[in-house]
Amino acid sequence: MRLYRILVGAIVVFTSSANSRFPPVARIENHTHTISQKRAQAIKEAFEFAWYGYQTFAFPNDELHPINNSFSDSRNGWGATAVDALSTAILMESQDVVTTILKYIPSINFNVSKGNQPVSLFETTIRYLGGMLSGVDLLTGPYQHLTESPDDVTALKLQALSLANKMKFAFDTPTGIPANNLNFKGENYDPFQPTGLAVAGTLILEWTRLSDMVHVPDFANLTQHAENYLLLPTYKNATIQPLLGLRGTSIDLSTGDFLDTKGGWGGGDDSYYEYLIKMFVYDPAHFSDYKDEWLQAVKSSATSEISSHPYSRPDLTFLTNWNGQDAILRSSHLACFAGGNWILGGLVLGNQTLIELGQNLTDSCAEIYTATITGIGPETWSWEDEEFFDGDEFEEDRSTKENGFIITDPMYDLRPEVLESLYYAYRATGDKKYQDWSWNTFKAINTTCRTGSGYSAISNVNVTHGGNFSNFQESFMFAETFKYAWLIQAEDSKVHVAKMGEEQTWVFNTEAHPLKVRSQQAQQ
Ligand SMILES: *[C@@H]1O[C@H](CO)[C@@H](O)[C@H](O)[C@H]1NC(C)=O
Ligand SMILES: *[C@@H]1O[C@H](CO)[C@@H](O)[C@H](O)[C@H]1NC(C)=O
Ligand SMILES: *[C@@H]1O[C@H](CO)[C@@H](O)[C@H](O)[C@H]1NC(C)=O
Ligand SMILES: *[C@@H]1O[C@H](CO)[C@@H](O)[C@H](O)[C@H]1NC(C)=O
Ligand SMILES: *[C@@H]1O[C@H](CO)[C@@H](O)[C@H](O)[C@H]1NC(C)=O
Ligand SMILES: *[C@@H]1O[C@H](CO)[C@@H](O)[C@H](O)[C@H]1NC(C)=O
Ligand SMILES: *[C@@H]1O[C@H](CO)[C@@H](O)[C@H](O)[C@H]1NC(C)=O
Ligand SMILES: *[C@@H]1O[C@H](CO)[C@@H](O)[C@H](O)[C@H]1NC(C)=O
Ligand SMILES: *[C@@H]1O[C@H](CO)[C@@H](O)[C@H](O)[C@H]1NC(C)=O
Ligand SMILES: *[C@@H]1O[C@H](CO)[C@@H](O)[C@H](O)[C@H]1NC(C)=O
Repeated sequence: MRLYRILVGAIVVFTSSANSRFPPVARIENHTHTISQKRAQAIKEAFEFAWYGYQTFAFPNDELHPINNSFSDSRNGWGATAVDALSTAILMESQDVVTTILKYIPSINFNVSKGNQPVSLFETTIRYLGGMLSGVDLLTGPYQHLTESPDDVTALKLQALSLANKMKFAFDTPTGIPANNLNFKGENYDPFQPTGLAVAGTLILEWTRLSDMVHVPDFANLTQHAENYLLLPTYKNATIQPLLGLRGTSIDLSTGDFLDTKGGWGGGDDSYYEYLIKMFVYDPAHFSDYKDEWLQAVKSSATSEISSHPYSRPDLTFLTNWNGQDAILRSSHLACFAGGNWILGGLVLGNQTLIELGQNLTDSCAEIYTATITGIGPETWSWEDEEFFDGDEFEEDRSTKENGFIITDPMYDLRPEVLESLYYAYRATGDKKYQDWSWNTFKAINTTCRTGSGYSAISNVNVTHGGNFSNFQESFMFAETFKYAWLIQAEDSKVHVAKMGEEQTWVFNTEAHPLKVRSQQAQQ
């Protein structure tokens, strides 16, 4: 009886739908599928709204100021939003957007940074290089139909190559560990400024993919050589060391020593750990020692104070910051990628415990969204665990008691990490609650942050309407936030994280640009 009513409901929905791409039989058969398809369509519309706002008022500058239709060039003036949006537009098969971006990219001059701003090796690699390499992989793979000419793809490849060639001098240090803040004009950098763990450890996927694509090993060699210092760390002060598998944050360019033992899964450290397992996905035979390091880091994090439970909500698990010797009970939106990353590791290693640990982190990060007035999670929060709680309930903040945590920085910068982890959780479990949570999150972002010609960061997730708009729309909203919100609903997408037991054919860089894994690469 229930099934019958669902079927009837599905027929009503479909006969009133103008979408003729799907044969009638398939439409009648699957009601849940339709709900997610409609959601995916609505997210694509939101993406295109934001794109056309940018195209009208800011293109080809780096980003739009949506409230006064102005723009800025915080990423060296090469059109960060356009390059970051490419892979998402391809997956959504937004043909006009793809065509516009493909026509633009060959005109970028990566030799010159606008206003001689320093170039961040890390940001440039994950946004620009990653975006172009992904364009090549998608347009020579399942989305060939979106480009009319092979010249488009050749141009992407040449631009990626020219950018990497220009940035290569970053590795010209006594150790080969790259500097991050590059002066393009003089091709130099401050040799005394240490490099961060996430900087040195996040280049390897993009630079290795580039090497494989153009058959020039140097790019892979440079990044893998630098990575060896991270895999076999030495510490300036050897008396204190972080937990097994974990690392400090700052690295001396001339000695390769870690200068501290601070760290965790938050900003500055995050994507070093993320890429250890992603390199294993890229080529399991070649990067198996990276996987071992990753598993060690996860084991240490899951079994120490780094995994912390608020005393009033012991069901929640947050990853803490680590000051070198102790856990600091504070976490961040950026660290919320970890749930999805642990799930990815669980999928490729066939390890159900890892999936459950990742789900616990993901579910807890989803709770910081549902605990606010806007339905959006804050930038940072803190809590007290059993040990720290002094037993005086009356002294406790009401929010700590109700929610388990208190907000310490209430802004929201259009970040993707929670949507990202929800996506991995859905791929691993098939549990529709993750699709619903992701949809609710996307709707909350759309309701609160959409303003003027696009979307803006907001100052306070726990006041009605989000407080003040920053009037700034980050390029990663296009690369990541829209993409993960869409992919979890777009069951039919030709590119996905594979489910348990299936072979992974794509790996997403930290900016959500999908790259072909090594076994899938045809001769190019
Ligand atoms: C309906 O679609 C969902 C989502 O793609 C899928 O998980 C489910 O197996 C489908 N059900 C049927 C009866 O085909
Ligand atoms: C960038 O510099 C390289 C190396 O000097 C040169 O080959 C290339 O033509 C330059 N590109 C542009 C667009 O000026
Ligand atoms: C790159 O590394 C490979 C393997 O370690 C080595 O055989 C090759 O000579 C290196 N190439 C360059 C240009 O250093
Ligand atoms: C190394 O760290 C230990 C423990 O914190 C400290 O006592 C010692 O002074 C440090 N040594 C140096 C050379 O900084
Ligand atoms: C699975 O993951 C758990 C949690 O990190 C770990 O303790 C266990 O050793 C892993 N199992 C295998 C077979 O690697
Ligand atoms: C996940 O969290 C639940 C609720 O706190 C807990 O019972 C379970 O043991 C956790 N799972 C893992 C693998 O730690
Ligand atoms: C958000 O504000 C409401 C009303 O002031 C409060 O009840 C709630 O605890 C706050 N949420 C968080 C996470 O602080
Ligand atoms: C986003 O907001 C716009 C404007 O309010 C609305 O038309 C659209 O339906 C919303 N989309 C979603 C997915 O909520
Ligand atoms: C918005 O900005 C104004 C002016 O800077 C400030 O007075 C006000 O407190 C802010 N509102 C919120 C909710 O943050
Ligand atoms: C638009 O707003 C930004 C900051 O929010 C400001 O820097 C800029 O001057 C404004 N532009 C115009 C044209 O008003």
